[in-house]
Amino acid sequence: MSSTTAGSPTPLSRFAAFARRTLRNPEMRAVMTDALGLFGTGSGTVELRLVHAAGGVWREWHAANDQVRELSQTEWPAPSPAALTVKFDDGEESGFVSVSPVSSEAEGLLELLAPQLGTVAMWNNAMRQNRKHRRSETELVQAALRARDDERQRITHELHDDIGQTVATLKLQLKVIEKRLRSEFATADLKDLDDARETAGQLLGRIRSLSHTLYPHVLDTLGLVPALQELSSQVSNPPELRARCRVHGEPRDIGRDEAVALYRCCQEAISNTIRHAAATELDLSIEYSAQTVRVAIEDNGKGFDPRQFYDTAGRLMSEGFWTIRQRMSAVGGSFRVGTSAGQGTSVEVIIPFKKTEAS
Ligand SMILES: Nc1ncnc2c1ncn2[C@@H]1O[C@H](COP(=O)(O)OP(=O)(O)OP(=O)(O)O)[C@@H](O)[C@H]1O
Ligand SMILES: [Mg+2]
Repeated sequence: MSSTTAGSPTPLSRFAAFARRTLRNPEMRAVMTDALGLFGTGSGTVELRLVHAAGGVWREWHAANDQVRELSQTEWPAPSPAALTVKFDDGEESGFVSVSPVSSEAEGLLELLAPQLGTVAMWNNAMRQNRKHRRSETELVQAALRARDDERQRITHELHDDIGQTVATLKLQLKVIEKRLRSEFATADLKDLDDARETAGQLLGRIRSLSHTLYPHVLDTLGLVPALQELSSQVSNPPELRARCRVHGEPRDIGRDEAVALYRCCQEAISNTIRHAAATELDLSIEYSAQTVRVAIEDNGKGFDPRQFYDTAGRLMSEGFWTIRQRMSAVGGSFRVGTSAGQGTSVEVIIPFKKTEAS
């Protein structure tokens, strides 16, 4: 819809059309180019400047000769005395919009245009801050996840190689003592010693299993596929849940961080099935294509309504899914959940192979 009257458009109708366009595309360069075009009907070079305060500096958008430049400076870039200027507020040093050369038509148009340009600049500034803030928050979370993985690996090492070895030695020593006592006192009641040896054995089993949960060394030694196959084969609770693991395509190395991220996401999805789904089947499928590794964890359980965990951007923000998303985004991967009440749940994590020189 256009509001032009018969004959040439008035400054007001030109401004209205401009305002509609900025609503559709508020990107600063496009807006400045568009605004410059509104003044550019006469002869000679038109110069349009928009200056506003942004996070402790003066940001200037400068448009002339169809070119838009963005400048940033600590000193107030005063308007030229020869330009037509509209300030944003009354202070000595204020944001402003200025245009030169001066003309009577430019005067009316600039009065209309200045608040609109100021608002668009503020909006762009807020969006920029928001993006920066979101990025640094993501970096922080990813650094925390990395630190947690490193710490887990360190604890695993201590558990397995230090405490685990000590308990294994203790078990052996108990066995030696038992043997000696049996040979010296054939009729001695050694039940307590037997029990102690059994307890030491159980403790060793728990240490190994805990150390494995904390960091699956099989990832480093045998790789992702055996590690995931082992993970699914360990699902034994609840007893009615049957898990299987299938591999499609030719497995190849995806990188250590990527493998750890996939493994952790599978652990979380499998633990969700065990804890929440009341499922009887769990399918883990690993698919290698030329560009990606895709791992899907599907169950036939009760499913859920994911909307209850959505944020305003439609992302799942509950703790477990949020961690899966962070892990995937740290390695350039993606993640999807498909579910609805009564329809089971599928969690899909995909990581692209890194591009090499040759590919
Ligand atoms: N496979 C599933 N079947 C049914 N419901 C599920 C399944 N996976 C997740 N859910 C539902 O989604 C919710 C959020 O899952 P999420 O993993 O984010 O958190 P959590 O498992 O409750 O807690 P955490 O993972 O931090 O221990 C769960 O509480 C559960 O209600
Ligand atoms: Mg969970």
